Amino acid sequence: MLEGQTINDPSTKSAGNISAYLHIPFCEHICYYCDFNKVFLEGQPVDEYIEALLKEIELTLFHQPVSEAETIYIGGGTPTSLSASQLDRLLSGVHELLPTHTTKEFTVEANPGDLSEDKMLVLKNHQVNRLSMGVQTFDNRLLKKLVASILLKMFIQPSNC
Ligand SMILES: C[S@@+](CC[C@H](N)C(=O)[O-])C[C@H]1O[C@@H](n2cnc3c(N)ncnc32)[C@H](O)[C@@H]1O
Ligand code: SF4
Repeated sequence: MLEGQTINDPSTKSAGNISAYLHIPFCEHICYYCDFNKVFLEGQPVDEYIEALLKEIELTLFHQPVSEAETIYIGGGTPTSLSASQLDRLLSGVHELLPTHTTKEFTVEANPGDLSEDKMLVLKNHQVNRLSMGVQTFDNRLLKKLVASILLKMFIQPSNC
């Protein structure tokens, strides 16, 4: 890069438009059927992971600058298992590094049970405009068998559980 240019400066020689996927591999419950990259949250170095992820984005963009990021998707694992302040740090870093002024769709995967008011406010303040909530089943008998998905009850509010 030239002196004075920043990573998300549109004048920088650019790879053009990208879609970014960021992975948060932490979950408060581990579902037996899940083969995604994830670990049980407790005791994990979450703050260090967030800093390493932001560093990785910075290094990647240093070698391959982009002028647009049409979509950004933060998936997991469970991104909403992060605390409100951790989400704030992650999303602030994303805005500093990626050209989010060009972003049309900004998604975060969420567990309904995690969506406290303070976390929702953080997502809103950082222009997240799409939540992706996994619904394993609307059949409450099956739901009970999928023990680790109990938080979904808050989503469908069945009367008999
Ligand atoms: C990986 S999870 C991430 C978001 C959040 N942790 C959740 O459980 O909704 C996203 C979706 O992947 C689904 N999933 C997990 N393991 C799967 C598998 N082996 N095959 C198909 N879908 C799976 C989950 O049911 C969930 O709806
Ligand atoms: S909460 Fe989501 S990512 Fe975590 S183990 Fe269950 S299905 Fe996988």
